[in-house]
This record gives sequence, structure tokens and C-alpha cells, in this order.
Amino acid sequence: MKNYVIHDLPDYFKQYKKSIKNPKKFWDKIADENFVWYQRWNKVVKFDMEEAKIEWFKGAKLNITKNCLDRHLAERGDKTAIIWESNDPNEEAQYISYRELHERVCKMANVLTELGVKKGDRVCIYLPMIPELAVTMLACAKMGAVHSVIFAGFSASAVTSRVNDCEAKMIITSDGSYRGNKAIDLKGIIDEAVEKTPSVEKVLVVKRTNTEVKMKEGRDVWLDDYYPKASADFVTKIMDAEDPLFILYTSGSTGKPKGMLHTTAGYMVYTGYTFKNVFNYKENDIYWCTADIGWITGHSYILYGPLTNGATTVIFEGVPTYPEPDRFWAVIEKHKVTQFYTAPTAIRSLAKESSSWVEKHDLSSLRVIGSVGEPINDEAWHWYNDHVGKKKCPIVDTWWQTETGGIMISPLPFVTPTKPTYATLPLPGIQPVLMDEKRNEITGNQVDGNLCIRFPWPGIARTIWGDHQRYKETYFTAFPGKYFTGDGALRDETGYYRITGRVDDVIIVSGHNLGTAPIEDSINLHPAVAESAIVGFPHDIKGNALYGFVILKETGESRDKDHLRKEINMLISDTIGPIAKLDKIQFVSGLPKTRSGKIMRRILRKIAEGDFSNFGDTSTLLNPEIVDEIKDGRIN
Ligand code: WTA
Repeated sequence: MKNYVIHDLPDYFKQYKKSIKNPKKFWDKIADENFVWYQRWNKVVKFDMEEAKIEWFKGAKLNITKNCLDRHLAERGDKTAIIWESNDPNEEAQYISYRELHERVCKMANVLTELGVKKGDRVCIYLPMIPELAVTMLACAKMGAVHSVIFAGFSASAVTSRVNDCEAKMIITSDGSYRGNKAIDLKGIIDEAVEKTPSVEKVLVVKRTNTEVKMKEGRDVWLDDYYPKASADFVTKIMDAEDPLFILYTSGSTGKPKGMLHTTAGYMVYTGYTFKNVFNYKENDIYWCTADIGWITGHSYILYGPLTNGATTVIFEGVPTYPEPDRFWAVIEKHKVTQFYTAPTAIRSLAKESSSWVEKHDLSSLRVIGSVGEPINDEAWHWYNDHVGKKKCPIVDTWWQTETGGIMISPLPFVTPTKPTYATLPLPGIQPVLMDEKRNEITGNQVDGNLCIRFPWPGIARTIWGDHQRYKETYFTAFPGKYFTGDGALRDETGYYRITGRVDDVIIVSGHNLGTAPIEDSINLHPAVAESAIVGFPHDIKGNALYGFVILKETGESRDKDHLRKEINMLISDTIGPIAKLDKIQFVSGLPKTRSGKIMRRILRKIAEGDFSNFGDTSTLLNPEIVDEIKDGRIN
């Protein structure tokens, strides 16, 4: 990778200026000098922010897997591409070379072809963090199929709605998965999910736990019956720059999850460029991102970004606390990890343990440590800095989103001086702006507002699968001409950004984005429930936890409220997944509503937080008396 690296702060400012003054020239050079193409583009970028139509590198022909795999074979064939670390520390790690990964991907692409998958078909992947997850994603990319990975913690009905939304032809899953000391019946969840997914023709099953599962004749097939016989030669499909690469679902303010569509060339260029710079990546590094591949962080910074750079990337199947709360530190020591990238919620939960768990491991291989997914609080930042980075490793607090494809605002290690809780400066090519409620740009420093981005960058999602109108409305209408992130931010006196959190109805719990609407919808399915409202409240480890206010159809004092609470949480767990369960449920006789019928969530938020000091203007409330009732009944 040439002309790619930012060396110091003056160089950053120089590159940044160049990228803003002439984005076309900037990205043209990066794309040209660092990736392999079958054919060059005619136009670097074409966009219409009103219509939310964005195209990068139009006319180019490529395949991302040529960049992730094939091109490394000559020089790095024997280099380890993936280190796979099992949930069980006694199971041997796998070291998969670039040559072997390439071979596995070609064989897998042949298996998928034999089972009827073609270019443009959607394939849902519901797998634990095992090598086959990476292999099947890359196989899809190699053959031009569109992968849609569904986090393997989602419930059957969450899987059903995603599979139906993208009309997937195939689901790839495993018999089961291991998480800590638990074994989870993944195939059973898929069996339930596929009952209502007419588009699914085949379910391909990978063996992981060797547990007994039901196989439906004609629909379900074992990978082991196909893979050993598959040829290792596969002719890579030639893709257009804007051909879909993958769909990844994210929560929105309204009920239905949004299938964010990322396309091929821009995503590849952006993740490759940002990986190299944000992690100060060097040829012999061992890079580890602890995210699940089922989230965008895993797509961009376990798989595609590292592999286009020819890096060694660790895939970890387990959890931070199994078998003991030092598993992360043990893995860093074992594999001599140089870059470690995790989430504030993991940092907070490990910081609660005795620091002897960290001290007993040699973490001297670390050079850069990172954080992603939610704001990192001061205390967690310092603990991470002191105990993990030993005050020597810069912390890259990376702000970005499923929609942005790659990191947008982040310090560059050894370049940008860090500041606790600040994501600091935008990467080259990224133009953040703060907007007020009246849609005016807030200029100057020491200000806060709604975070928007002014000009497109190559990694931005192109649409919501099957619903361009919703894409346009969600991201491009609140502040015309700009991409609206849904986050609030402040800019300090030096121009550093600090992300303050969501300004919409998305709540981030343990780093997972949860929309209030789908959770409310699922609570309302309970026969005893008339209406409900969910808000977030601060939680020491999870960042936010969920507080539900629930109106029952009949107040009936006789009902066992604790039993009802359990039933409501079970319902949420079944329809969305255990991550969306509520920490507190308060039964109320009404909700504070405006005259137009809108729930005034800011009042509920204050009550959930236990802050009764100032409810702000309540004059537009239809039923102001309800506020006292709810306040008095608050659960501590
Ligand atoms: C939040 C994850 C503060 C933010 C890559 C964003 C952050 C949402 C940070 C996207 C950070 C992510 N500091 N907040 N460093 N990183 N967020 O789509 O609210 O799962 O909008 O993408 O996470 O979450 P998503």
C-alpha cells in the first residue's frame, strides 16, 4: 500500500486539506495505487444528496476477494491471514495462511454454486465466530452473491424478518455454537425461523458442536457432504463498482430493521484506507478486533479492511470472561497481539474485575488499542489507558456507524494527540458539521449540535435494501444536502469532536443498537398489555439499560406483577433476542402525551434516571397529572 500512510500531525492536516479541496483527486489516487482492478473507473464520484443517490468509481470492474486474497498469494501465500481462537482455551488455535484461505473460499464458492446460488442472490449467514463465517462471506463476494450476516444472538423471529426482507435463497448456519460455558442450538433457531421464509431453498449446515439436529429432506444439507469433494478452482466473478457486496441490518426508530446496502468498490477502498491509518498497521502485526462479525465492525475491521491490507486478523469465538475474566489478556499474550480493538461495554465489565487479571499477563506486544460502538466514559478510558495500554499505546476512540461503512472520526495513532472521551478529528475525506434544530450550521468551536456529514465518502451505504425512500427520509431530509448521523456531538476549542450519544429513538445497550419501536411492538403483543414506552437510563457496564413503562388493559391488582414482568421479558427475548430485555418494568395507568398523541420521552427518560429536578416545558401535555403518578411509582 503506497501513498496511504499519514506520518504526523502536519501531514494529517496537509492530507486532510487536500482531501477536502479535491476529494476526487484524493480518492482517485488512493484507489488507483492500492488496489487491483480489472478495469478502471470513468468517474470517481457522482452524487445527488437530495435524492440520496451516490456512486463511487463508476465503470470500474473488480472483485473484492482478488484484493483480499488472490493478490497476496505471490508475496504472502504462507503468511497467516486468520488466527482462529476457540471459545475453549484448550482447543488448538488455527493458523490459516492466505493460500489456505484462498483455497477454502474457492471450494466454498463451488459448494454454493452447486447448491444453486448465483450472482446477485442473497445468502443469509447465521454462524458463530468460526472460520467458516469468514470463508462463506468471502465465497459470496467471490461469486457475486450478496451476503447478509445475521448476528447469531438474534431470535428466530428476528431472523425470519431479515431473511424475508432480503428474500434470501439460502441460509448458512451450524448445528450449534459455544459461548462461554453454554452451547446454543443454532440449527433449532433456524428451523423455527425458516417455517415462515418462502424464499429459502437450502439451509447449509456447518458442524461445530456435533450435537444432533433435525435435517429436513431436500432443504437442509451438511457442508461436510459437499466441501471435501469441491474443486479448489473457481473463476472469480467480475463485479461492477456499484454491485451490491452485502446487506447488514441495523435498528431504526421505527419497527422494521433497515437493511443497509454496501456496494463493492467504495466500501473496499474506504475500509482498506481507514484500517491502515487508524490502526497504524504494519506488515508483521497481529491485529485483533473482538467484535462479532455479525456487526459492521466485524465486517469492516475483522474481515475486509485487514485482508485487503494483507494483515493477520484474529477471530475469537468466545467471550471475555470465559473461562476466567482474563481471557482477552491471555489471548493478547498468546498471539502477541499488536492492535486490540474492543467496545466500552467490555472495557467497563473487565475494569470491574481485580486488576491482577490484567497484570498477570504480558501485554507488551500491544502498540495501539481501540474503542468503538458507544461513547467511552472518562473512567473506562483511563482504566484502558493505564492497565491495558500501560500509558504507551494510543487509544483510538473510533466513531462510525453501520451506515458509514468505516471509521469516520478517530485519532490516528502517533499522529493525533488523544483526549479522553473524544473521538478527536475527522479522517481525510470526512467533513463533519454540527447543525441546530433550525437547520442552521453551527460554526466555531466549543459548540454542540446534531452531527451531519457534508460530502459523500466512498464507504457510505448506498440505500436501504428495497426501500430507497426510507433511506432518503432517514438520512437526507432532516438536514437537506447533508447526511444526518442521528448522533449529537460537541466540538471543543481545538476542533476535536466528542460524540454525546443518539438524538433519535435508538438506544445503545452494551454496544448494540436497539430501536425503541420494535421492543415496544413486541411488548404490546402480550395479551395483558395495552401500550408501552421504552427509554434508556445510564448503566455502569452496559452504558445504557432499558426501562419500560407499561399500561395494562385491566389494572387488576390481583395480577402477579413479577410474573408479568418475566413474561414480557420472555416475549422480547423470543421476538428480538435476549439483548433487548428490559432491566426495569414499571406498570403505569397512562403515559405523558402531547396533544398530538406523541409520547414525551424526555420526561420518561428523566424519571428513569431518577432526575426529578426539571421536566422542562410540560404545558403541551394532555395529561400532566400522570407525571407525578409515574414519578412516585418509579422503580429504583
Ligand atoms: C455509536 C458501530 C461514541 C453512535 C460502528 C453511532 C459511538 C452508533 C462510537 C453506530 C464512538 C459508535 N463514540 N459513539 N466511538 N462508535 N458509536 O451502527 O451512536 O452498530 O451512531 O456501528 O454507535 O452503531 P453501529
